Amino acid sequence: MKKLPIVVLISGRGSNLKAIIDAQDPLVEIKAVISNKSKAGGLLYAKQANIATEVLGKFTSKLEFDQALQTCIDKYQPKLVVLAGFMRILSPEFVNHYQGHIINIHPSLLPEFKGLHTHKRALAAKVKQHGASVHFVTAELDAGPIIIQAQVPVLANDDENILAARVLNEEHRIYPQAIHWFAEGRLKLYKQQVLLDNQPIEVSNENF
Ligand code: GAR
Repeated sequence: MKKLPIVVLISGRGSNLKAIIDAQDPLVEIKAVISNKSKAGGLLYAKQANIATEVLGKFTSKLEFDQALQTCIDKYQPKLVVLAGFMRILSPEFVNHYQGHIINIHPSLLPEFKGLHTHKRALAAKVKQHGASVHFVTAELDAGPIIIQAQVPVLANDDENILAARVLNEEHRIYPQAIHWFAEGRLKLYKQQVLLDNQPIEVSNENF
């Protein structure tokens, strides 16, 4: 089976990138890792794995940045763009260019806690369950159709770091899984609905 060419976008630590590299999925080829931060720790994981890296510098406007990013990504002709802790809001034009071929991981059980500081907000809201979601990216921030979620309990003595670590563990499990489904050709975005094996997906961590 032909490998799925992917490009991974990061801004920081890169632990999700590492999980994707470590999964060594025989159906997936990471063509490049692109960062908007030259100091992103995750670039090292890419270099260690002999994956091409690119850093986008500063641009005078968001439009210019998004255009440069698109040119940089398209050089590698990926079939899937994987946002892994890429902390920038992307323009609708950019997102539409990759519609159905761009996914993101977010550290909450979407639609709960879109945006930043999700763990702190989950603790403040005293929720019993928290987690992570992988979703197709659409123009609206953190609102795209969900592919897979993983739940974790929120325990009595949790602080932000403890809870973040518990969620991150699950992120590292579900992100390679979602990419694998896509590489198998089983996962599709059709009219804003996620299909797995041509059936609307039941969002639950019991999918595998
Ligand atoms: C992850 O927890 C990811 O879910 C989150 O940033 C972290 C990146 O960690 N993404 C977002 O908040 C996107 N809205 P990593 O660099 O170690 O993968």
